[in-house]
Amino acid sequence: MRAAVITAHGRPPELVDRADPVAAEGQVLVAVAAVPLTPLDLLCATGSSYFGPPALPYVPGVQAVGTVLDGPADLVGARVWFPSSAGMAPGDGGLAELAVGRADEAVVVGDDVPATTVAALGLSAVAAWEVLEARAALEPGEVVLVLGAGGAVGQVAVQAARLLGARRVVAACRSSVARDRASACGADAVVDLGPDDDVATLAARLRDACEGGADVVVDPLAGVAGTAAVSALALGGRLVNLGSSAGPSLEVDSAALRSRSGSVLGYTNNALTNARRREVFATVLGHAARSRLEVAHDVVALADVGDAWAAVARGSAAARVVVTP
Ligand SMILES: NC(=O)c1ccc[n+]([C@@H]2O[C@H](COP(=O)([O-])OP(=O)(O)OC[C@H]3O[C@@H](n4cnc5c(N)ncnc54)[C@H](OP(=O)(O)O)[C@@H]3O)[C@@H](O)[C@H]2O)c1
Repeated sequence: MRAAVITAHGRPPELVDRADPVAAEGQVLVAVAAVPLTPLDLLCATGSSYFGPPALPYVPGVQAVGTVLDGPADLVGARVWFPSSAGMAPGDGGLAELAVGRADEAVVVGDDVPATTVAALGLSAVAAWEVLEARAALEPGEVVLVLGAGGAVGQVAVQAARLLGARRVVAACRSSVARDRASACGADAVVDLGPDDDVATLAARLRDACEGGADVVVDPLAGVAGTAAVSALALGGRLVNLGSSAGPSLEVDSAALRSRSGSVLGYTNNALTNARRREVFATVLGHAARSRLEVAHDVVALADVGDAWAAVARGSAAARVVVTP
């Protein structure tokens, strides 16, 4: 089979021929149809993630979609989404023509949504939905602020906030492409994030756009935007941080937090049970099948994975890249 293989930390994968993998007890062998290139894949491959530098060579791809060729009888022939810990722990991921995954983690996804769409949504969509519905416990009629709304998490968060009954959805983005994307996803207002923003000015802009304050903030960015958003919370507001695309930390202004009885929360998909992950996938894909949830994505052949990976690493990919082995 052909596989994309990381042979040096911080370098794009190379396409190589490899022996076909074999499913062991408790595993599924999958003919891979679609694999998203996610920030986690890129980060792990640099060798600088908090999991430490991965042993080389390895096949990246922390999530993939495909058809089960071998494994438990009830899964053979099914289309599944499955995760891997490639880059975080020894072992290979999904960026290959064939891959193995844990049978108990495989999520049967049916065929009413294209594999590439499932891959583009993936764990970014699960995270966005779970942050709103469970971690922030969004109530119908509340105001939601989504930072980084042009990214995969952000696009789903804007659409999901609408589906979950938000009264007003405000997006905050840094590029014109992202702003257009956030508007197309249904944001009522879009706030610019600039490289020279200071916290106080940005907080005032966010509060104005939220018409007073945000009941819920979805924060995949941290940095200045995350810090400013703490000061844009409404009374009883909840900010959930789930990423650090703009900086490794955010500051919490004590007066802003206590005067609003606010909450600053964290979120990781790694804390989800397999059962809850299946439940959220089913909800997300149910909406995707009705064209209510989507993530903009570009489909790339496995032969072009090196260039596509390099574009994502440079920050010049126009949308989430989905590779089709
Ligand atoms: N905790 C979890 O379980 C979980 C799950 C999924 C994702 N995440 C994390 O969430 C974050 C976003 O994931 P994603 O899949 O949405 O990634 P993505 O599609 O690559 O989006 C990244 C977003 O961050 C924005 N951004 C990057 N640098 C920025 C900066 N300096 N200032 C302002 N905005 C900036 C980008 O803006 P442009 O659109 O303008 O480029 C884009 O909107 C990542 O850190 C990821 O690791 C966490």
